[in-house]
Amino acid sequence: MLVDAVNHRDREGATETTVLGPFYVGEHRTVPSNSNIAVGVAGRPMFVDIRVTSLNGGPVENVAVDVWHADDEGFYDTQKKSYQHEGASLRARFVTDANGHVSFRTILPRSYPIPTDGPVGQLVAATNRHPMRPAHIHFLLNAPGLEPLITHVFIEGDEYLESDVVFGVKEELICKVERRDDPIMPDGQPAMGPWYEMKYDFHVKPGEGHVPQPTQ
Ligand SMILES: [Fe+2]
Repeated sequence: MLVDAVNHRDREGATETTVLGPFYVGEHRTVPSNSNIAVGVAGRPMFVDIRVTSLNGGPVENVAVDVWHADDEGFYDTQKKSYQHEGASLRARFVTDANGHVSFRTILPRSYPIPTDGPVGQLVAATNRHPMRPAHIHFLLNAPGLEPLITHVFIEGDEYLESDVVFGVKEELICKVERRDDPIMPDGQPAMGPWYEMKYDFHVKPGEGHVPQPTQ
């Protein structure tokens, strides 16, 4: 988090950044907007609707939007044995359309503990802190001519927002996720009961930069 703070002092109206985290696995498979990235995954259905704009508010087309998040029990796909034979779930790449828009179906992520074995775990224990991260979706936005944006969107109301073990929370990254009962979701497909809606706008700025390589 200190590295993030030093490298991103002046956001000039661009969306705040936060840590990449250990669960990024490199370029994700590109899927069309409105895809369901939680096929066969239990959880509370959520429709995510995002827009990418420049600092002056105009839509930005052809931005690669990498998304990854934990499941309803707080685990990433790569932490599970099924990853070896079933491949990615709750992670994908989308590309913004002419309106800077991307939407997809998934499930609400759950808060999770960081691994507490090893020196990080010892540090957390020594400082009398819990190991939890508040529920969030990771986003990595990248396109030629743009400064890559590595961030999370956090779920408003999570009990760990004030005490994230890695200090990754920034106020503007907290999103109110509304419960809906409409029988049809925004993709025109039926909803099988109550669902949740996340709407978030990202503001990107010109520049370049390099996307860090995954750490596992
Ligand atoms: Fe995470």
